[in-house]
Amino acid sequence: MGTVPLILAFETSCDDTSVAIVRGKSVLSNVVSSQQTLHERWGGIVPEAAARAHVEAIIPVLETALREADIALEHVELIAATNRPGLVGSLSVGVAAARALALVLGVPTVGIHHLEGHLSSVLADSTQVEVPHLGLIASGGHTACVLVHDWGRYEVVGRTIDDAAGEAFDKASRLLSLGYPGGPAIQAAARDGNPQRYTLPRGLKEPSTDFSFSGLKTAVMRLVESEGEGLSVADAAASVEHTIVSVLAERSIRVAETRNCRAVTLVGGVAANQKLREQMAAECARRGLPLYVPSLDLCTDNAAMIGLAAAWRWARGERGSSELEVSAMEPLARP
Ligand code: KG4
Ligand code: ZN
Repeated sequence: MGTVPLILAFETSCDDTSVAIVRGKSVLSNVVSSQQTLHERWGGIVPEAAARAHVEAIIPVLETALREADIALEHVELIAATNRPGLVGSLSVGVAAARALALVLGVPTVGIHHLEGHLSSVLADSTQVEVPHLGLIASGGHTACVLVHDWGRYEVVGRTIDDAAGEAFDKASRLLSLGYPGGPAIQAAARDGNPQRYTLPRGLKEPSTDFSFSGLKTAVMRLVESEGEGLSVADAAASVEHTIVSVLAERSIRVAETRNCRAVTLVGGVAANQKLREQMAAECARRGLPLYVPSLDLCTDNAAMIGLAAAWRWARGERGSSELEVSAMEPLARP
């Protein structure tokens, strides 16, 4: 086995079943099966239903990933799986598949932290990212500024104290009757809206490096009640998007500057937001800070990012050993 192994990766931490084939830093396939319609029916994620849906999806998704990459299973040299944090029942499905295949193929396994996966999503196509850098992780479950001192050495500099940024998009979208997932729905509705029309709370004030988005949700609820028929949904969507985007961009870039970071990365489902990508790009350019943002398919949960994390761990000599124990809650870095 060389320094560029053929990696099979699983990601089943929440409600997407994903399998990817990665060779070094090249993504050969990255297949995602979403449980969105299942959970829409229940108005949220039911852990037991999610686990069962992973069981049903995992083999077809694996077969599609192998076919799209044009790879035979026997050629896989390393198997990676998200093993923490997440829903235990969901994580267990990907991990069980990884362990069973590793046993049959006689190859090592490596367990990857979900957030390390998101941070590694910028490495596709052999992109090199300077360290130390500031990673802004913004998704449906997490919002954090992570100082990446080096790959594998992280310091969480700020996080949300209540709702995640994606959750704020989702809750505001529901209040505005725009549907789920809220991020893309708000982005579309905001296109012709006036972002200055409604003033919404921006959460914790500096010098705090933490985020708070629950006040925004309450303010949108009050707005819907008070404006009634007179509410402009486009203007409300644009105001929500503008508020979340500017808080994320300003706060993360401030942290990057004060901590002397050499670059910034923007990852997680909310990194798919066009306005956030544009504002981060403009503000980083003004400061001469390189910005790295993954392609849209690597922003939301996917197995390719787990394969990319396994790839750099392998390249620096780690030969997989972990027992692949699943864990519902585990911080990316211990304080
Ligand atoms: O990373 P992800 O797939 O799952 C978690 O780990 O949570 O992120 C999903 C989140 C959802 O809250 C969704 O509304 C948000 O990412 N999202 C967006 C956009 N696309 C997805 N938020 C804002 N703008 C988007 N275009
Ligand atoms: Zn995620």
